[in-house]
Amino acid sequence: MPKVSELLEVDPFNDVPLSPNEIHLLVNREEAKERLDALVRAASKGFPQHVAILGEDGSGKTSILNYVAAKARLHEGVYTAQVDITEGTDFIQMIGAIVRDLLNQVHVGLGSTFLGLFRFGREATRKEILQRLSGVEISRSRRVQLAEALFSIISYSSSVEMKKGTPEAVMEIMEILRQVYDLLGSSPMAIMILLDEGQYVASSRTVALLQHMRLLFQRKPYMLLVAGSPNLFSLFAQVEPSFNNLFAEQNRLRLTPLGFVHVRELVEKRLSLVRIRGLGIEPFTEEAVDRLYRLAEGNPRYVVRIASAALYLARNRSAVAPEVVEAAGQQILKEMGRDRFDRLKEDERELILTLARYGPLSITELWERLPRKQDLSTVSRKVRALADRGYVELTPRGKRKICHLRRALYAYVRDLV
Ligand SMILES: Nc1ncnc2c1ncn2[C@@H]1O[C@H](COP(=O)(O)OP(=O)(O)O)[C@@H](O)[C@H]1O
Ligand SMILES: [Mg+2]
Repeated sequence: MPKVSELLEVDPFNDVPLSPNEIHLLVNREEAKERLDALVRAASKGFPQHVAILGEDGSGKTSILNYVAAKARLHEGVYTAQVDITEGTDFIQMIGAIVRDLLNQVHVGLGSTFLGLFRFGREATRKEILQRLSGVEISRSRRVQLAEALFSIISYSSSVEMKKGTPEAVMEIMEILRQVYDLLGSSPMAIMILLDEGQYVASSRTVALLQHMRLLFQRKPYMLLVAGSPNLFSLFAQVEPSFNNLFAEQNRLRLTPLGFVHVRELVEKRLSLVRIRGLGIEPFTEEAVDRLYRLAEGNPRYVVRIASAALYLARNRSAVAPEVVEAAGQQILKEMGRDRFDRLKEDERELILTLARYGPLSITELWERLPRKQDLSTVSRKVRALADRGYVELTPRGKRKICHLRRALYAYVRDLV
């Protein structure tokens, strides 16, 4: 009998967002893809609409963003800019990233060069900018105009108005950006801004950022595609409620957990990339894939991680059996659970630890057992938010809702209590 390690060239279960040329590996996302295709098409005809992709960690949001970016590139007149958000991002950094990506699409490398000038602020000179534009193939007079436009963007971004964040300053920058396009000879049908980890733009410190973004995205040709946690809209609502109006209900795409058949398909597709011998899901057994599905609770990232660990544990055996998947699962879930737990705030941890200590509870029971007293309504709201984010699950029992910890979190916190 050949060993597992002899059946495959390498371990194909690497956990990175799928790139556009791997998109055939995406399972169970037909509906989202269809909708997004339609939206990209509409954008390319000059009818951009804003879209949100909602899903818990590991559900495939970044992979889907990559897919949309690739689709958009196939349409003339649709430009994309990818903005990586962290807790500290402000509007100027966002504008900087947008300008960089947009310029890079018109002329390779131009955007990155330009961004280098951003940190000089007002000290950046027209001459310097003009010099950096020397490689761009446009007429001399246009190049001068372009340098002028870029110069204004830089000076605006370091201006007092901008620091105060007046709407006028924001609009001014947007207007200039549009001119930049016109000067480069390509008037955009849509400028699609892809924003990953959108929950970071929703904190009390980011009211101004959200207000600016709302102004920006109320205007054609700007289009926002934001990916974030399932409770993204309630987070936005707490900071700047009108922001949510940008997104029509049919454009709020929710990434649902994978079913057994999808997990099976995911495993089969990945294995087919590196297979030396065998077929289908081999060296996994049918029962092993079933175990994988249950342990991962339909989360693609967990599927990939557990499958990888299982392959390794079984490398000297003849097949990957359910017991091995179980062992791999316990190990991975604990790691993922710790990651998740570490991201929680103190009061959220208290809820989780209480659930770990007492087992499944109704919201009222949980409230009664909390070490520090809080309002029942506050506890109820926090529990629902945790459910939205995939930390707990709420299952109806009669009129009440019972809270359970999700598997990964439980695997980690049960040792803490
Ligand atoms: N629908 C899917 N089909 C197959 N693999 C997926 C799917 N969604 C995500 N993955 C895989 O799961 C992992 C997590 O995906 P990612 O896009 O990074 O999720 P997120 O951004 O939501 O955390 C990656 O390894 C990716 O390749
Ligand atoms: Mg991601």
